[in-house]
Amino acid sequence: MAGAFTEKYKELQSAPEDVWVESGTYHGHGVLNALRYGFKELHTIEVSPARFAELYYRNPELCRDPRIHRYLGSSRDLLRPIIEKLTDRNVVFWLDGHYQGESKEERDAVSECPILAELQAIADQPWKRSVLVCIDDWNLFTDNWWENGTGQEKFTESDWPRESQLAEIMQGWRTHCEDHILYFQRDFA
Ligand SMILES: C[S@@+](CC[C@H](N)C(=O)[O-])C[C@H]1O[C@@H](n2cnc3c(N)ncnc32)[C@H](O)[C@@H]1O
Repeated sequence: MAGAFTEKYKELQSAPEDVWVESGTYHGHGVLNALRYGFKELHTIEVSPARFAELYYRNPELCRDPRIHRYLGSSRDLLRPIIEKLTDRNVVFWLDGHYQGESKEERDAVSECPILAELQAIADQPWKRSVLVCIDDWNLFTDNWWENGTGQEKFTESDWPRESQLAEIMQGWRTHCEDHILYFQRDFA
């Protein structure tokens, strides 16, 4: 996890009740980092049944940790019902659930990238506290990355929105980009 996130999260650290919500569990490194930052309630969503099951063998203690809530399915469907119950909490989102260009199991049936549905679910909530949204691999949402030609070999370009589409959903949120992470942040106190 990048240093930029560390700095950003320090701004919110006065709030020990922060909740961490992640799309894309994969090998659990995001969750492990969030535990190190001191989060006491974590939610992580993984679409691949193989990845979901594999984590149990890689790290059974992590899977049994009562602070961690794991969900099998697409964040496109699961994120909204999870966060509807968190609107009076400080929430940090780590949106990292997307196809990686390898196993077709690591995506949902709709597209390679659920980011617009995820952001819409976040933007629709009546938040009462601070919310920090971190989108990893921001370069995947830029013209530059697609124009370089690297993406087309492995990915379906039409499945990947551009940064302007993300920003349109998050109107009114502060935003900046650092170390391949795109941030949207807002205080609702
Ligand atoms: C880049 S990895 C996540 C890495 C992890 N967050 C970390 O910090 O180490 C992407 C993961 O997202 C999962 N994924 C892809 N589409 C998804 C979706 N619609 N909902 C949830 N997970 C998804 C993939 O199966 C894969 O495990």
